[in-house]
Amino acid sequence: MSWNNLIDGRAIAERIHAETAQRIAALETRGLKPGLAFVRVGEDPASKVYVGMKERLCARLGIASVMHVLPETTTQAELLALIEKLNADPQLHGILVQAPLPRHIRAATVFSTVRPEKDVDGFHPINVGKLMLGDASGFAPCTPAGVHELLIRSQVAIQGAEVVVLGRSNIVGKPMIALLLQKAPHANATVTLCHSQTRDLATHCRRADILIAALGVAEFVKADMVKPGGVVIDVGVNRVNDPDAKGGYRLVGDVDFARVQPVAGRITPNPGGVGPMTLALLMRNTVRAAEMAAGQRA
Ligand code: GUN
Repeated sequence: MSWNNLIDGRAIAERIHAETAQRIAALETRGLKPGLAFVRVGEDPASKVYVGMKERLCARLGIASVMHVLPETTTQAELLALIEKLNADPQLHGILVQAPLPRHIRAATVFSTVRPEKDVDGFHPINVGKLMLGDASGFAPCTPAGVHELLIRSQVAIQGAEVVVLGRSNIVGKPMIALLLQKAPHANATVTLCHSQTRDLATHCRRADILIAALGVAEFVKADMVKPGGVVIDVGVNRVNDPDAKGGYRLVGDVDFARVQPVAGRITPNPGGVGPMTLALLMRNTVRAAEMAAGQRA
């Protein structure tokens, strides 16, 4: 049986790219080109793939990108020195330090060294604070902002909805609830954030008009945890061993898609749901950083 309840993240991301490309063209007429620096430390295989995708997308849209790959043994001081150099470079409007970082480097220190105006990831405490305050002049992290945009552009009713977010990460879960509970259009949701210590987690999930899974556990969300007709957003990317697959593993989300799809009203495929939206929001944030640097759209 086939179902027609997919939320097509690729198609929606393409529409955002088209808007972003127009803004890039407008900057170009003023002799400006957005610039984004990538910093990757070590050889985490997933990070290599993600940063490579981001780099290719920059090239496609007309964003100048520079890539800095540092060895796993890089000291925190060396990494901070590089960030300061990138902070001072007027050609660069965005700086992205790919997480995860090696254990000997304190990610919080690194993220708070990136100038807030160039923090297109939205990880700097100033941008985190602005998000909590509902101050739109900051940058929101790309994945939760991408999920928000996905819901809006899919005409999912957010106002007054019961939203349950699984996972309390700084990158997804925490900013996700901040975006959805704002007293603002396309927000005003009632949010619940569940985590590893939550009692009766399935009971919370079953109440959700919108269930957002971002806990990093393969196929955690089962059909009996989903409210019939509810919207299910799968943020997870997990490697599971599969001797039949190329490389010996395959990627699965946090949602048991095959069993949940028949219960859900709408659901994101994975891949092809949240992932492309994260990239689209990164490009849009970068262009906004360039516009802000040029004294427009402050
Ligand atoms: N690692 C996983 N997601 C992200 C992200 O959105 N930005 C960065 N910099 N690292 C990540």
